[in-house]
Amino acid sequence: MLFTLYPFLIFLLISVPATVSACEDDCMDGVTNAFLQKYNQGPLENAITKIAQEVSGLIPSHPSLATSRNLIQPILDAYQNVAFENLRTSIFPDFFHGKCQQNGIIPPGCPNPDCPVVCGTPGSLVHFYPKLRYIVYNSTRHSLSMFTNPRSKPYQQALQAVEDAANSANGPERRSLRFFPRSLLDPYDQPETKVKSEHPDIPSQFLAIISGMLSRLLEACGGSAEGSTNGLPLCSWEQQLKEYILSYP
Ligand SMILES: *[C@@H]1O[C@H](CO)[C@@H](O)[C@H](O)[C@H]1NC(C)=O
Repeated sequence: MLFTLYPFLIFLLISVPATVSACEDDCMDGVTNAFLQKYNQGPLENAITKIAQEVSGLIPSHPSLATSRNLIQPILDAYQNVAFENLRTSIFPDFFHGKCQQNGIIPPGCPNPDCPVVCGTPGSLVHFYPKLRYIVYNSTRHSLSMFTNPRSKPYQQALQAVEDAANSANGPERRSLRFFPRSLLDPYDQPETKVKSEHPDIPSQFLAIISGMLSRLLEACGGSAEGSTNGLPLCSWEQQLKEYILSYP
C-alpha cells in the first residue's frame, strides 16, 4: 500500500508550492494607482499648468488658466483613459513577473523584503526601484505622446477648441458666419476663410506648445531619465512608495 502511494507522495511534495508570496492583483492595482496619483498631483499637474499658460497666451482674450486648461481637456481625458492600463502592463508583466529564483535557488531577500532577482514580488520591486521609477516615467510619457500627436482625435478636438476660442474673441457676429454653409456665400468673399485667417499661426503655435508637453514632464520630474539610480528625482517618492509596496505580503 505504502509502495503504491509513494510516487503520489513525491508528486505532492514537489507540486505543493512554498508559501505563495507575489504581487497579486490588489498589489498590482495598488502600486499602479500609487504612481498614477503621485504623477497626477505633482509633475503632470505642473506640466499641464505650464501648457495651459502657454495656450492662454495664444488666444487674444488671454482666458483664465481654468478656461485654457478646459480647451486641452480632450488630450488630458484621453491620457487618463489609457494611463492605468498602460502603466500596469509596463510594470506587470512587461518587466516584473515570475518566480524569484536564480539557478533554481531562492536568493536571500526573496521574495521580500529586498530581492535581487527580477520577479513578481514586492521585494523585487523594491530592489529594482530605479528601474521601476524609469518604467513608470516611460509609460507616462508614452501614454501622453499618443494624444500630443497631432494626428490623434483628442489633439484635433483641442486645436479646434482653441481656434474657436480665438475666433470668438473677435466678436460673436463674425463667428456666427462660420456656421453658414460655404455654398450660400459669395465664393469671392468667404467670411469663414477670413475669420480663420485672422489667426493663421494658431495651428503651428499650438503644435509647438503641445509638442513641449513631454519635455515639460521631464523637467517636472527633475530631468535625467536614463533609468539610472539618480534620475528623475522629483518622480521618485522612493521611501514612501517602498514602504507602501512592502505593505503587500
Ligand atoms: C518605453 O515605453 C515604450 C512604450 O511602452 C516601450 O515600447 C519601450 O520599450 C520603453 N522603453 C524602455 C527603455 O523601457
